[in-house]
Amino acid sequence: MTIAHTERWRQFVHLVDSIDLQHIMDTIDEFAGVSITAADTEGVTRLAYSDLDIKARNRIITLMRDAGLNVRVAPIGNIFGKLTSRCPDKPVILVGSHSDSVVNGGRYDGVMGLICAIEATRVLHNIKDELTYPIEVVDFAMEESSRFGGDYGFGSHVMVGEVIQENRLLRTDKNGVTLAAALQNIKRLNNYPRLDDSPSEILAAGFDLIARSQRSPEEIKVYLEMHIEQSVTLEEQGVPIGAVTGAATPTRWEIILTGEQSHSGTTPMRVRRNPLLAAAEIVLLADKLCKEQETQGKGTVGAITTVKVEPNVQNIVPGKCTLLLDLRGPNQVHKEQVLHTLNDEINRGSRSICARYDVECTINWLANEKPIQFSSTICEAIEESCTVLEIPSIRIHSRAGHDACHIAQLVKECGMIFLPSRKGISHHRDEYTAPEDIFIGAKVLLLTLLQLAIE
Ligand code: GLV
Ligand code: MN
Ligand code: MN
Repeated sequence: MTIAHTERWRQFVHLVDSIDLQHIMDTIDEFAGVSITAADTEGVTRLAYSDLDIKARNRIITLMRDAGLNVRVAPIGNIFGKLTSRCPDKPVILVGSHSDSVVNGGRYDGVMGLICAIEATRVLHNIKDELTYPIEVVDFAMEESSRFGGDYGFGSHVMVGEVIQENRLLRTDKNGVTLAAALQNIKRLNNYPRLDDSPSEILAAGFDLIARSQRSPEEIKVYLEMHIEQSVTLEEQGVPIGAVTGAATPTRWEIILTGEQSHSGTTPMRVRRNPLLAAAEIVLLADKLCKEQETQGKGTVGAITTVKVEPNVQNIVPGKCTLLLDLRGPNQVHKEQVLHTLNDEINRGSRSICARYDVECTINWLANEKPIQFSSTICEAIEESCTVLEIPSIRIHSRAGHDACHIAQLVKECGMIFLPSRKGISHHRDEYTAPEDIFIGAKVLLLTLLQLAIE
């Protein structure tokens, strides 16, 4: 059964000819320029809640307005642009992605899908009185976890009412700014709502913004997100569109190793308690366990992605090391096998890594998300759009986390469209998706919105 209740949407298929690819590509270029690093040589850096993020997201607001959308900003910084319909009180078809970036990242991750969603909605504005359901474009706040670490998709987590722990708001960026403090910057966005009776204390103020930014499931009929694949499947198979069936979401640990700071010249080797040695073993162990899973076809991947050494000085044996583990996989049981073995080998017994180096270890869970299944009904709608356009598509699984994974907790009809990534490169300046693929994607997105919005 397809999601379209009528065939009426087919009379508007010609609207795909109104999509302005030049405008989409110019806008992607423009956003690549809103970065503290040069997009071509170092990659795009536009971290969440930074001044450049505010600048870029004010531009998103302008683009939404130019497309005829009614803009509303949630206190946490999620931006919504609504195209009304002939039944304006019906739940909305929500479509979007994010506009923040990682450190030294690419030009397409997040912002490409968002720009195409605004463009598709601009075109659909011409037939808004034919739409049953309103369409709302969303730019989620802080999808990337690059600035503060911890979990990804902060804005989408908040929107679905996920409990945000105090320690998430207290995480700091490399300059020691807490997320709670950085959140206050978002108040500089255009269209920011007036908030009466906000607490003045910074942590309470953060929780207040969160509480005011949730949405209820009754407001949203469907969530759809278009994104670059960030892996090799579509390119290898020579197919321009993936209908995404589900996603491998992360489990993330902060591993704090504490030994004893000492003089690097005078301390006898036998009494040193160097946590960096334990860290080195843990880095290798995480890699080994994931490679074993790959050989067995179990699919868990992961790495220790950051190491913070304190005091990080040449003539001092460090006293403390903090590691961040990012573990992903399509199968929770297999993912947990890696976690159990890691925990045992780090901590358990006299032969464990910590015992051998005489260091203490604390493990904090920063995320533990179960793999997500998206709606097969949405996959069918995407495939129907491809059939109409005579474009091949395949079903595909996401190896990355996306806001859609969080929205799936709130909205049953939730799905994603993937476009090919050259060589699968992402979170890197060489990220690339060809304009012709973006054009195809924008058309598929528009037709899928048509199917979903017309009853
Ligand atoms: C999102 O960018 C992720 O890290 O999967
Ligand atoms: Mn990303
Ligand atoms: Mn992304």
